Amino acid sequence: MGRMTPIVIKISGSFIQPDNPELIKSYAEAIIDVYSTGYRPIVIVGGGKVARNYITAGRNLGINEALLDLIGIQVTRLNARLLIHALEGRAMTTIPETVSDLLKAYEDPSERIIVMGGLQPGQSTNAVSAIAAEVSGSFLIINATKVDGVYDKDPKLYKDAKLFREISVEELKKILTDKSAMAGRYELFDPPSLTIISRSRIKVRVVNGANPENIVRAAKGESIGTLITP
Ligand code: UTP
Repeated sequence: MGRMTPIVIKISGSFIQPDNPELIKSYAEAIIDVYSTGYRPIVIVGGGKVARNYITAGRNLGINEALLDLIGIQVTRLNARLLIHALEGRAMTTIPETVSDLLKAYEDPSERIIVMGGLQPGQSTNAVSAIAAEVSGSFLIINATKVDGVYDKDPKLYKDAKLFREISVEELKKILTDKSAMAGRYELFDPPSLTIISRSRIKVRVVNGANPENIVRAAKGESIGTLITP
């Protein structure tokens, strides 16, 4: 296998989308920073607002959930394409669309950065990040989200929501019961992602992605945001 240590970085689609190319540039710089310290980033990009707009329109037209998920996946790949370009040749230009594609990309001797979006219906890009961590043997997933980390309740709805510095997957599963699993509305950690991080004992650090520097800090081992432990 390669010389570099794999590290999975999941970026919410709210930060990698067409309405803010400057932020995509800043993300590319942060990812290159991580790459230059000897890690090989496997980056998973979400769908963001654009995916949700398409999914909402499709749902109004009566499109079924599986097809709506496929629409979401297509948007994640469009977002991934923008990030690949901003990485200026350091990233592989083919976006893995299946787990076998990902494995092939990972085994490529050039050890370039891998950027991808969704895989199949019924899950979120967080589940993709968990699969990518398993396939590459990555010990850590850095998850750049719209919030500061994992809270005991939704911080947008409750002012007294408490941020966890550390939480086990088991505790997290208890908090996340009864959450939505519809196209465009997957909760931060959908059941497939929890199952995988739990069975392969993968750690996840959830950080605020509004500042791309946070992924560099997380890669350096700084204890920002929330650490989800096996
Ligand atoms: P996400 O909902 O994972 O995007 O993927 P995101 O950017 O992380 O979410 P936000 O913006 O931060 O809230 C977008 C949509 O693509 C489909 C789902 O419909 C999902 O809601 N998708 C993604 C899949 O069906 N399968 C995948 O493997 C990934």
